[in-house]
Amino acid sequence: MTIDEKVRKKLAELGVSDAAGVEALFAEVRAAMEAERSGLVSRGAASEPERDRLCKELRDRWLARKNGLLSFIDENWLKASPKELKPLVGRSFNGLRQESAAFEIAALTKDVPRHVSATLGIPAESLRQVTPTSEIQAEMGFTDLTLPGNRRPLGSLHPVTQMQREIEEIFLSLGFRIEDGPEIESVYYNFDALNIPESHPSRDDWDTLYIDAQTVLRTHTSPVQIRAMEKYGAPLYIIIPGKCYRHDNPDASHSPMFHQIEGLAIASDITFADLKGTLDFFAKKLFGEKIRTRFEPSFFPFTEPSGEVSISCIFCGGEGCRVCKESGWIEVMGCGMVHPQVLRNGGIDPEKYSGWAFGLGIERFAMMKYDINDIQLFFQSDLRFLKQF
Ligand code: PHE
Repeated sequence: MTIDEKVRKKLAELGVSDAAGVEALFAEVRAAMEAERSGLVSRGAASEPERDRLCKELRDRWLARKNGLLSFIDENWLKASPKELKPLVGRSFNGLRQESAAFEIAALTKDVPRHVSATLGIPAESLRQVTPTSEIQAEMGFTDLTLPGNRRPLGSLHPVTQMQREIEEIFLSLGFRIEDGPEIESVYYNFDALNIPESHPSRDDWDTLYIDAQTVLRTHTSPVQIRAMEKYGAPLYIIIPGKCYRHDNPDASHSPMFHQIEGLAIASDITFADLKGTLDFFAKKLFGEKIRTRFEPSFFPFTEPSGEVSISCIFCGGEGCRVCKESGWIEVMGCGMVHPQVLRNGGIDPEKYSGWAFGLGIERFAMMKYDINDIQLFFQSDLRFLKQF
């Protein structure tokens, strides 16, 4: 009599009337279950759909609520067992159920992604679970289909990257293109071409990290202004996101590595009004229509005139608070009209063309937007911080 036939009969019909008989019967069932399972395993790593199908077949055969082998055992052996054998049959049946859970797990790990995928609206491929690598499986000598898969957690973009993309989007929508340049830069592009001669005291302002006498880690994204002018000429509308480096000690507002976005517009009739209009539009897009901008005179060797841009405090709306130090304004970037000598250094005729430029710190914007008070948090790779974005 096969197992399939036996589970359809009552214990009495099988001639089982004592403890030894019950134990022998369940041992037989366990052996059959194990044989079928290892039969599946030793068939090796078939294709994934094939493997799924076999797994499901086995699970249905044993565990299906209706007409699964275990459901028959429950009906015919346990529920119908004579009173004195019931505790033993019950215990044996429970043991069997536990062992058969392995089928359930193997099957479940395949079902979870579909379910999660539907709930999250994420394609199942992105949530695909991983079975042990082929190397590990080779080492084991077989494919263990009962192992649960490893969930690969979904990551997210770093807050600085998110901020960068958001700023990029605004300028892309205005017709700017994204340009980049080297982080290891020559003294010529980082300083000389930007109208900052060696003797100029402003060179000290940049706390430069030198690689050798002629090479630095760029202290700002401005050197890419010159590189882009040389490469494309005028007219030119670009933004330049990227890493910059300064010899600063890390504290709540300083980091030796940080990110800037440079903006540069050059055409035949660019004026300071274009600069103001563009940056005002930018601030309103980023922080809301109520935001106002303020331009104050400043100095950079590569712009003339130069300005410092402030926005009305996004926390108090300009009333005055702790963040804006009761002034109602927050300084957010430097800007100005590109110095004629800088245009010349980039191979552009200042008699024909004019332009504006700005430079902003991405971390500073991210800190305002997400209300973060310590720049170091961005660079500590602490998941408790990063998971919030
Ligand atoms: N490069 C300047 C800085 O790092 C910012 C700036 C860029 C100012 C462009 C004016 C024009 O501080």
